[in-house]
Amino acid sequence: MKTALRQSLGVLRRAGALVGMVATVVSTLGVVTAAAAEEAVPTFTKDVAPIFQAKCEACHRPDSIAPMSLVTYQDSRPWARSIKDRVTTRQMPPWHLDRTVGIQDFQNDRSLTDEQIDTIARWVDGGAPRGNPEDMPAAVAWPDESIWNFAEQFDGPPDLILESTPFTMGAEASDAWWKPRVATGLTTERWARAIEIRPGTVAGRKITHHAIARLVQDETDPALAAANQANAADGVDRSRTAGTFMEWAVGKQGEIMRPGTGKLMLPASEIQWDIHYSSAGEEVTDTVQLGVYLYPEDQAPKHRQVLHLMGTGGVDIAPNTVATTQGFFPLQRAARIESFQPHMHLRGKAMSIEAIQPDGRRQVLSHVGDFNFNWHNSYVFSDDAAPLLPKGTLIKVTAWHDNTAANRSNPDPNVWVGYGDRTVDEMAHAWVNVTYFEEDDYKAEVAKREAAQAETRGGGE
Ligand code: HEC
Repeated sequence: MKTALRQSLGVLRRAGALVGMVATVVSTLGVVTAAAAEEAVPTFTKDVAPIFQAKCEACHRPDSIAPMSLVTYQDSRPWARSIKDRVTTRQMPPWHLDRTVGIQDFQNDRSLTDEQIDTIARWVDGGAPRGNPEDMPAAVAWPDESIWNFAEQFDGPPDLILESTPFTMGAEASDAWWKPRVATGLTTERWARAIEIRPGTVAGRKITHHAIARLVQDETDPALAAANQANAADGVDRSRTAGTFMEWAVGKQGEIMRPGTGKLMLPASEIQWDIHYSSAGEEVTDTVQLGVYLYPEDQAPKHRQVLHLMGTGGVDIAPNTVATTQGFFPLQRAARIESFQPHMHLRGKAMSIEAIQPDGRRQVLSHVGDFNFNWHNSYVFSDDAAPLLPKGTLIKVTAWHDNTAANRSNPDPNVWVGYGDRTVDEMAHAWVNVTYFEEDDYKAEVAKREAAQAETRGGGE
């Protein structure tokens, strides 16, 4: 009976029947059961709006980067088919991590749960009904864009505000990558404890797809300088890329370092910008601002965090093939891996990061299975999951490039592709945030983690 009911409800849903009709059929059958309630078509106001508020509005609201707003029913209804398509394939929200491989606890996870996807899909299949207006949750009060996100927490605006040079994006121009370099103006060593990036104006938010700010400086720590040269054999000079700073994309609040850690900025350092602009149907001129909150000069944090480039500059991709490229990065000291951000261009398909410990133990930390060049996500591990690894661990980065016609972003599957800056050339590295520890501090961190895990296990029984 239950199955027959489900089937008839399924048929009705496919026919785009309204909730009311379903209820009528159910009551004429005389079987208003739990199964019927479970199968009721979700409505926008009750079931879907809360999901959009939590997972979509950060970008899909007026004056933001996404092409349409998903704030009201009227805004959302015309997009129902496209929404179902994008969420069931997990292209939206942009979070392209393989959910079956490696660590799954992230600080910035914006993906949908299986239940949320199911709710959205059933809402669309059921004719995308509005529902009772009284069920609509209160509108989200989005923060005033003119105030720095962490200003309240740190009692004022950032200590250092650095700006990219202005760029003008034409109304219909194709995507542009803007890479100016600006001086930080620092004359002494300073430690960053939080970082925010934002477009300079409201109009700028519509064209700023993402922005990366790299800290360029002469590394004074010999072990870290050596780490940055670990791949020097590939002929790419990374001697001054010691301290990449932060990547930003819409919807990201900024980054606060974990307690006791900071990023060291050296005198005469510079910020290398890498900004992806896309057109918004009107000409816009804007800058991007980097706000840095510094530790007071007499309060240096104990542990240094460095964003490393891991992987390789050597790619060799034959026409009409899927190529695999591997790169290795030895950890010069014990460390905690904080985050992972794959970097490839149009032919990028997937990237994994694996830890090979000195005793031979291997662990795949993360795998981005569905890389999309439009989205430079940084996957930030949660406090309890960020891997702790001993000195001498080898980080192995594996990149897959799809240079076949099956890759819809591929501009030409019939050409050989090598390393290079242009988007038609390729890259195969990851940006990985690493916090280094002295041996004793590392042992203490491991002991703390083991105790916490033992407690969780105990609590679960
Ligand atoms: C981090 C910002 C961001 C978040 C979060 C986000 N989107 Fe998007 N979305 C975009 C941008 C930018 C585009 C256009 C570029 C692209 O397709 O990648 C887009 C495109 C889309 C499209 C395709 C529109 C078309 O032209 O057909 C759909 C549908 C969509 N998003 C739905 C959603 C839904 C539903 C959610 C939440 C569950 C969501 N998005 C979350 C930024 C975002």
